[in-house]
Amino acid sequence: MTLPNFNNLPPPDAAAQAHSDQLCALIHDEIKSNDGQITFAHYMALALYAPGLGYYSAGARKFGEAGDFVTAPEISPLFSRCVARQCCQVLAGLGGGDILEVGAGSGVMAADVLAEMGALGCLPDHYFILDVSADLRQRQRETLERRIPHLVERVRWLDRLPESGFTGVVLANELLDAMPVHLFRIEEEGPQELYVAWEDDRFAWRSGPLSDPRLEGRIAAIVDELGDLSPGYTSEVNLAAEDWVRSIAAMLERGLVLIIDYGFPRREYYHPERAGGTLMCHYRHHAHPDPLIHTGLQDITAHVDFTAVAEAAVEAGLAVAGYTAQAYFLLGSGLMEMASASNPDDTRQHLALTQQVKKLTLSSEMGELFKVIALTRGIDMPLAGFSFQDQRGRL
Ligand SMILES: C[S@@+](CC[C@H](N)C(=O)[O-])C[C@H]1O[C@@H](n2cnc3c(N)ncnc32)[C@H](O)[C@@H]1O
Repeated sequence: MTLPNFNNLPPPDAAAQAHSDQLCALIHDEIKSNDGQITFAHYMALALYAPGLGYYSAGARKFGEAGDFVTAPEISPLFSRCVARQCCQVLAGLGGGDILEVGAGSGVMAADVLAEMGALGCLPDHYFILDVSADLRQRQRETLERRIPHLVERVRWLDRLPESGFTGVVLANELLDAMPVHLFRIEEEGPQELYVAWEDDRFAWRSGPLSDPRLEGRIAAIVDELGDLSPGYTSEVNLAAEDWVRSIAAMLERGLVLIIDYGFPRREYYHPERAGGTLMCHYRHHAHPDPLIHTGLQDITAHVDFTAVAEAAVEAGLAVAGYTAQAYFLLGSGLMEMASASNPDDTRQHLALTQQVKKLTLSSEMGELFKVIALTRGIDMPLAGFSFQDQRGRL
């Protein structure tokens, strides 16, 4: 199966192309040393995170207007201020604790969360950041030093998750969608996995047996819920996200894990009408479905199956304390009070804030597609962010 090339994408310049060629050569070597093919998950991991060369590990701009995509914390500080208020509520209930942000991107959410927590007088003991990208860790440090120099001493960068004993709040905004997924396709003889090979000087698709025994169970759970899937149906399973939830559960003694991302409960995610799955690439604000081109120069992402996240959490001993759409989470966390505190006579600022609120909450923008799930251990307070509407019943 070869997906079409998207000729309307802006061509990379010579330096970007040379960078991509280097990464393609590395992945090609990996394919050769694995009998001619690697799982798509392996390809995606290298395309995004190969040290010094992967999309997130190299110096490209990525976030914001000059990059490939924009995330909620980059759209408006109101988003991070709402997250900060939820953190304050939980830290107050715990009698103090730390924040750990995993996958902190440019560092803008860390800066705005800490600034708001400082303004509210509920700073965490430490604000830990864990990010696989050395390049982004450097960028986070620059952002924090520029924006909140007086609070930087509370920030610590980690190389791995703490093993145990963490008390506080774990934050993950658009982390799980950036984890490598396994691709499967229903064929006459049953589910097959999609692999990446090298053919005619470019990457090419192959299908073969499922590479991980857990995939069979995940696909069976989908069929249980939705009935038989037709031949040709293609989608993804994010085993890395489940593993991540388990590692977080292992280290969390008491507190909240707040995961924000685009996605659906299982029965919507794998609906027969979504027969091509949710895999998507972002390249200079163009969204397209071919992950085998512009390797290392574009983001590759898949939506999150929030039912799988909730199941992994419950198996690991966490409680699912809330699940709702981003719009409701922000409204429950005080978005409108914050927005209405702006001075209406400052027309420019007022208009900008109104636009930001719309982007964050309208169902035609980020409001409905993005969801927030709260996983907890050892706390039983009703969480403010889910007071407006809690949709756990849909998981
Ligand atoms: C799509 S970006 C989101 C960045 C930021 N949270 C935001 O909303 O702007 C994904 C981030 O997760 C990081 N990342 C991906 N997988 C990770 C993992 N397993 N552990 C830690 N960081 C990871 C990437 O380096 C990147 O910073």
